[in-house]
Amino acid sequence: MKHVISPLDLTVEEIDRLLALADDIIDHPQAYAHKCAGKKLATLFFEPSTRTRLSFEAAMLELGGSVLGFSSASSSSATKGESVADTVRIVGNYADVIAMRHPKEGAAGVGALFAKCPIINAGDGGHQHPTQTLTDLLTIHRHKGRLNGLTLCLCGDLKFGRTVHSLVRAMMRYQDVRFILVSPDELRMPTYILDELDAGGFAYEETDSLEKGLAQADVLYMTRVQQERFANREDYLRLRDSYILDGEKMKLAPAEMIVLHPLPRVNEIAPEVDDDPRALYFEQALCGKYIRMALILTLLEQAGGFEKPCAAQ
Ligand code: CP
Repeated sequence: MKHVISPLDLTVEEIDRLLALADDIIDHPQAYAHKCAGKKLATLFFEPSTRTRLSFEAAMLELGGSVLGFSSASSSSATKGESVADTVRIVGNYADVIAMRHPKEGAAGVGALFAKCPIINAGDGGHQHPTQTLTDLLTIHRHKGRLNGLTLCLCGDLKFGRTVHSLVRAMMRYQDVRFILVSPDELRMPTYILDELDAGGFAYEETDSLEKGLAQADVLYMTRVQQERFANREDYLRLRDSYILDGEKMKLAPAEMIVLHPLPRVNEIAPEVDDDPRALYFEQALCGKYIRMALILTLLEQAGGFEKPCAAQ
């Protein structure tokens, strides 16, 4: 049983195959319109989402499958004290694949221990968000034509932002990749990620200057300061507008640089940047649907093809 809890659960070859499959789905959507007929995706979202949940659901519907699930913990039996382990045990009886978001780090990993069908981590606290990373890789690959030999500037809340943790882990699999980590001191990249960069011999630089970072970047990855993960609201208010990408800063950026953001944005990219051809964050969200189609198809194939449903408990 293959689960996707971290980008490291996928080999480089598997990622490359997913990107190629997503490209093919984009080019030939009708060829995939009935691939998942009779299959069900459960979306178990214990934490709010717009893009991830709806793109998962759109992905399954566009594959001809069906969707069930809940969009908040309050409408599930978690409010009565049911554990993640029991929840996925039960839902595995009703669905062929599960996408789960949870506010606690490690929740999806726990789910994977008990699930009878593939579990996809749709974000666990401030930890990992592997399908956002696949979305990012697809967008980068479609625009840069490669994942090797890139300089990525990651800016904002690098401490709590699970998307940047997953993206760095994924990009560490590629050659000649360099990272510029732009954040306030209090929101620096966690030590465990820096240790992985050190162990892998990767070139990286930490700075508090967005201007310095973007001047060298092939990819600028902006992130929101994660209000919901702060223990102290005053700290959030002090740090939330640390970086605002606007038209003036974009003048300092290379002509071929692309701007990504996992979204939602709050104030960290001024709306005037949206019309810049380098701003790809809305296209990135669309890529999220196609790469999730590719992932659902691949996991269902690996889980036993399309002849038999997931085993009941
Ligand atoms: N990028 C992302 O995870 O967005 P949502 O929180 O809206 O799913």
